[in-house]
Amino acid sequence: MCGRKAEKLKGKEKSQSQGQVPDRQDRFAKAGQNLDPLGRTIDYLRISVTDRCNLRCIYCMPKGSCRCEQEPPLSLEELLEIAGTAADFGISHIKVTGGEPLLREDTPELCRRLKAIPGIQTVTLTTNGLLLQKYLPALKEAGIDGINVSLDTLDPERYRQITGGGSLSQVLASIEAALAEEIPTKINAALLDPEAAEDSLALAALAEKRPIAVRFIEMMPIGCGSRFPGCDNRLILKKLLERWPDLKKEKAALGYGPAVYYTSDRLTGWIGFISAIHGTFCQSCRRLRLSCHGRLTPCLCYGEGIELRPLLRQEGKEALYQAFCEAVKRKPEGHCFSQQEKISEKRMMSQIGG
Ligand code: 5AD
Ligand code: SF4
Repeated sequence: MCGRKAEKLKGKEKSQSQGQVPDRQDRFAKAGQNLDPLGRTIDYLRISVTDRCNLRCIYCMPKGSCRCEQEPPLSLEELLEIAGTAADFGISHIKVTGGEPLLREDTPELCRRLKAIPGIQTVTLTTNGLLLQKYLPALKEAGIDGINVSLDTLDPERYRQITGGGSLSQVLASIEAALAEEIPTKINAALLDPEAAEDSLALAALAEKRPIAVRFIEMMPIGCGSRFPGCDNRLILKKLLERWPDLKKEKAALGYGPAVYYTSDRLTGWIGFISAIHGTFCQSCRRLRLSCHGRLTPCLCYGEGIELRPLLRQEGKEALYQAFCEAVKRKPEGHCFSQQEKISEKRMMSQIGG
């Protein structure tokens, strides 16, 4: 059933006639610049455009915890310069993220210009959905390839509690509006504890009638996430199998991340699992992260990164390019979430670019 439908969700890649430089991937595959020491191809960059957010999720940026930096984030032009070098280096897929990226009015313009960079095949966005309806026309016009909306429960009161005051109806309306625009849409749910597995059924049921992927992300002990045990994705799968016994793994790739997808004859969409703790998350990692202040990090778990801002201002393109090569060389085999004392990343998820 799903080959063509899956392509729709993944987002259409640029064909050569749409401006992709034909031999770019070959050139880099040959040069091996974007192959890490374990042979993983690094072709995906998450770009955080702000560390601010209009929600206060208890596992991310709870009330009173905000440590947003005074330093302004990278400008549109600076972000584009870095992205241009990233594309030269071999990055093909970009996720624009935050904090909440739609707090920046220039985010749709950024997406539009990222899409125009030769070699960039897809540009997608992660948002909490609160401001999404306002920006949907501009994002659609920008050619956005997909939108991920964070949503951890369908209970309005729990949603308010988890997010520090967010309005569930506003997020649901945004999701419907994105689907009406035929933008490939995914939902990201990070469950706080095993009891929250109760929320998984209602969330997953959103995929019954809609062509969306509902994805469960295991809570990572990063920032305030370490205060919660999270919910094992195997427990969620067990629960969902009671409702949809024919759930089976989807063969087609639905994105460029580590999610494993399932579908059922009774689902229009998909259910995805991002098993950061209990899965083989790191083996399929193909990403680097750029914080909104210009730190390029090889892995979510370790604080060590390369500051690109001084390179941008003083050294130029070749130095930026070398920074990408260096970041890939420094990519570790995997995270160390099970040995918390080894986690050297001390920033909050909203500062790293979740
Ligand atoms: N572990 C897992 N997911 C997290 N997110 C934020 N903090 C964490 C964490 N510690 C998720 C949000 C959002 C996405 C950008 O990252 O729920 O969906
Ligand atoms: Fe904001 Fe996302 Fe963090 Fe919630 S998880 S506070 S929506 S950045």
